[in-house]
Amino acid sequence: MKIMSVVGARPQFVKLAPIAHALQAAGHEHVIVHTGQHYDPMLSDVFFRDLGIPEPDAHLGVGSGSHGVQTGAMLAQMDEVLERFWPDCVLVYGDTNSTLAAAVSAVKLHFPVAHLEAGLRSFNRAMPEEHNRVLTDHAADLCLAPTEVAMRHLATEGLSERSVLVGDVMTDVLFQVRDAVLAGGTENPLADLHAPDGYYVATIHRAENTDDPERLREVVQALGDADRPVVLLAHPRVRAKAEEHGISLDAGSLVTRDPLAYPELIAAALGSAGVVTDSGGLQKEAFLLRVPCTTVRRETEWVETIELGWNVLANTSEEITAALTRPAPAATEEAPYGDGRAAERAVEAIIAGVKPR
Ligand code: UD1
Repeated sequence: MKIMSVVGARPQFVKLAPIAHALQAAGHEHVIVHTGQHYDPMLSDVFFRDLGIPEPDAHLGVGSGSHGVQTGAMLAQMDEVLERFWPDCVLVYGDTNSTLAAAVSAVKLHFPVAHLEAGLRSFNRAMPEEHNRVLTDHAADLCLAPTEVAMRHLATEGLSERSVLVGDVMTDVLFQVRDAVLAGGTENPLADLHAPDGYYVATIHRAENTDDPERLREVVQALGDADRPVVLLAHPRVRAKAEEHGISLDAGSLVTRDPLAYPELIAAALGSAGVVTDSGGLQKEAFLLRVPCTTVRRETEWVETIELGWNVLANTSEEITAALTRPAPAATEEAPYGDGRAAERAVEAIIAGVKPR
């Protein structure tokens, strides 16, 4: 079978890695299309290199823009790419503008679509990612869900018959990279901080935390007031917005560094006293590494991390301060994100469930 993966943003490259390996192991043909949504080398190239992902077969080079401009630029190019490669199935990942654009172009040309990481919901309709995931699930022929909770959301929306629980593919990668890091493969890039009481690793990039200067100031202030160093691995969006509004990202406890490659990020998180983030992926990675997480949002799609006590939602500066200094969570053996073999199951579900065009 010929499967086309369409990816464009950092978390999608992480999810692509185990799928690329599983497709190769099962002897299928795999075409990779990179939309170019993320183009900084530290947000894109290093993931292909470190996670052993083959070079993309096509690169759309769309770059940044408003939602309409960015999504439209992808749509305008996808018809030609689909007709050139003529895949048996188009696989889209997660919830970015690249996900929605690829799903819409493929269904319009009657190519079967499978959506990996289907069924996640924040129920916050102000988030661009929420529109992307709902629209993509309803366009897709096959919804590959990471959790039981995601399966329930798909059922509520009438999509049970096209949904399969496969587990979370980010868990597949995380376990492999964690084991390699623990075996001594990667130094902790934050060891040079010499923080005797440890440090927190932070990432902040969501529009709701970065685009309004008052909101960004509040988050930065709370991180600057933390009880130990907070290393902000700054996504280009947060750097650009802070500069535009004259907000310093190096004040008090806050120290800003460039984003890290994936194995370095895992080494940094493993060595930390906690993670502070608004990223979906990092919340879950923190849980899987059993590092306490503070999520700077009002809601999360990964509710299991909260229920099991390893993640706390903290939106105001008081909540962030309280969450950072909370007592350590209780140990748990629960594995709501699967056993690290989700990619294999996703490939099996595609082969069993997709009728090529
Ligand atoms: C996107 C996804 C989000 C995902 C995140 C991971 C959407 C709507 N959002 O958000 O779901 O969690 O990626 O990082 O698709 N920029 C650069 N260099 C880059 C990429 C972006 O400088 O390589 C800057 C640009 O100024 C751009 C801004 O970051 O305008 C935002 O980039 P964009 O791709 O629109 O969304 P993200 O915030 O990265």
